[in-house]
Amino acid sequence: MASLLIYNIGLLATPIGNKANCGPKQDEITFIENAYIYIEDEIIKEVGKGQGPEAETRLDAKGKLVTPGLVDSHSHLVFGGNRANELKMKLEGKSYLEILESGGGILSTVKATNNASFEELYQKAYKDLDEMLSYGTTTLEAKSGYGLSFEQELKQLEVVKELNKNHPIDLVSTFMGGHALPVEYKDNREKFIDEVCEKMIPYVSENELAEFCDVFCEKGVFNVEETRKILQTGQKYNLKSKIHADEIEAIGGSQLAGELNAISAEHLIVCDEKGMEAMSKSGTIACLLPCTSLYLGADFAKAKTMIEYNIPIALASDYNPGSCPSLNMQLVMNLACLKYRMSPNQVLNAVTLNGAAAIDKADKIGSIETGKQADIVIWDTNDFNYIFYRLGSNLVDKVIKKGRILIDNEKTC
Ligand code: NIG
Ligand code: FE
Repeated sequence: MASLLIYNIGLLATPIGNKANCGPKQDEITFIENAYIYIEDEIIKEVGKGQGPEAETRLDAKGKLVTPGLVDSHSHLVFGGNRANELKMKLEGKSYLEILESGGGILSTVKATNNASFEELYQKAYKDLDEMLSYGTTTLEAKSGYGLSFEQELKQLEVVKELNKNHPIDLVSTFMGGHALPVEYKDNREKFIDEVCEKMIPYVSENELAEFCDVFCEKGVFNVEETRKILQTGQKYNLKSKIHADEIEAIGGSQLAGELNAISAEHLIVCDEKGMEAMSKSGTIACLLPCTSLYLGADFAKAKTMIEYNIPIALASDYNPGSCPSLNMQLVMNLACLKYRMSPNQVLNAVTLNGAAAIDKADKIGSIETGKQADIVIWDTNDFNYIFYRLGSNLVDKVIKKGRILIDNEKTC
């Protein structure tokens, strides 16, 4: 058994509990000054004030701020190529949906992903995971959806499975065959949806390639009926529902999230009060993606109103090659304060415990408490507000994953 004591923690800041915090609780963070964390193997055994017990390895936190590792609950990690070429089109005034309609957007990434080998996709994503870890992300949700055929969706999901075995970041997999309609099915939408429901979902479920099922419910992509069909089929096969809802137009995605008791609805930029009511009733988590709003030049979701509706908020990167080529959760934290007007306490909840709840892992990760996995960030400051205030720098001092120190940025002169 390996034991690690992190001592001389200036300020430990963590949410508490095994489920998402909502309403006033979203604003509750426990602070402990002069704290220690005692870890055995991968698990936190004790958290307290003062010296702490003896341990095989001792890590001096040097009076710094410590939080749980960041949980990024929405990403499209595995994809081929990039879409740097779209920047010019965007600057010329083409909208996201116009680029998609002209065969660009998601569909061009589908081509690049299909043309890439397993090894190429694996190496590219591995490098991105390294960068995420360096910014403090210790768990990541990863969606498929750039394959859009049986073989190619499986290739993406197998890449995630292999990465999960070999990379220290824990990965949680979501099947998103319903991400866009492949060009060859343009006049035969039903056939593609049948393919997703009758072939892909059963295989993905039987081979345990994903835990969740997600659909891009959007005008010009999949409508509410189509989304319902795919997600209900997923549920029949034990894939929990997530929905890309109300990103560009409110066509009823968030209401459907409520109806289907989805674990989370994501984006919600234009979510109206009807949608919020439905989500509030079902306990669906709002997974908000502020970097995407920034990148699309879109509005920002009404996070404060959602909190009034007692909807738990999680915050995530949405890392993907089109609408958000950023994987930096610290930028997500900054933007959530500046654009959603969320408090640092609300934001910390959203990027730790509520993020964990959005991927159904709140019993294992997302807080620094006895019994939780030892996923921890030591920040290069002793001031809680500092990590929400500074913009554009990496403020990580150390990242500890499952009790192992994996990133150490401490400068030695
Ligand atoms: O979450 N909205 C749909 N899917 C992604 C974008 C994917 C892409 O543009 O490649 C998103 O923003
Ligand atoms: Fe997304």
